[in-house]
Amino acid sequence: MPNERIRLGVNIDHVATVRNARGGFHPDPVRAALLAEKAGADGITAHLREDRRHIVDDDMERLMANIKVPLNFEMAATDEMLEIVTRLKPASSCLVPEKREELTTEGGLDVIGGYDHLKGYIQKLKDVGISVSLFIDADKDQIKASHELGADKVELHTGAYCDAEGEARAAELERLRAGAKYCGEIGLEVHAGHGLCYETVGAVAQIPEFTEFNIGHFMMGEAIFVGLEQTIKEMRDLMGQGRAKCK
Ligand code: PXP
Repeated sequence: MPNERIRLGVNIDHVATVRNARGGFHPDPVRAALLAEKAGADGITAHLREDRRHIVDDDMERLMANIKVPLNFEMAATDEMLEIVTRLKPASSCLVPEKREELTTEGGLDVIGGYDHLKGYIQKLKDVGISVSLFIDADKDQIKASHELGADKVELHTGAYCDAEGEARAAELERLRAGAKYCGEIGLEVHAGHGLCYETVGAVAQIPEFTEFNIGHFMMGEAIFVGLEQTIKEMRDLMGQGRAKCK
């Protein structure tokens, strides 16, 4: 497993954030997704939030119609999203917690607290062939509950690790390492995402169980300066260098 290339899912939400700042159609997140695909993205991630602050329904429809790599549809576990996602049938969905007032997804999903609701919800997604990921903190009990619920994979929240400094960051990295290791032991596919940038990605790539990273905000910001293709190439190089160190 350690020799495997880590897949890169490119999150294009913030292209839509810039578009929505003025209304209209420019810049188009679907154009960014096609560019990312050409530059070697293994998948495209987009989050249809309840308040539609960035990605809107039409973006999801056009992503499904135009991209060739798998679409990872991020969403809250609501009835409205269930109707949309089961109609569009993307390759995978990632269930995230969502609060209207937050700036971004601030913590992992409470799988234990929402166990009964999630059980039926996950099954409905799986029934139409959508693979299900749960975005959770690197907590053994949350991972165990995700596995029991029949999630196909979990995405461990890397935000606390990326936001911390010094010893606190090292401690968060150990939490991620222990969580990913536990996923490996119980046979649960494990991804990582949130807040990753050039500085933080290498150490996470050294954790052998991670098979995919989903990265958005930093790459979209960097793309303003050097372009999306160059940004994806640099991110991939750093992921590869990190992974090479865990042989
Ligand atoms: N993974 C999940 C589940 C997310 O909610 C987000 C943010 O939308 C990301 C990954 C990407 O995070 P960032 O934009 O900080 O790279």
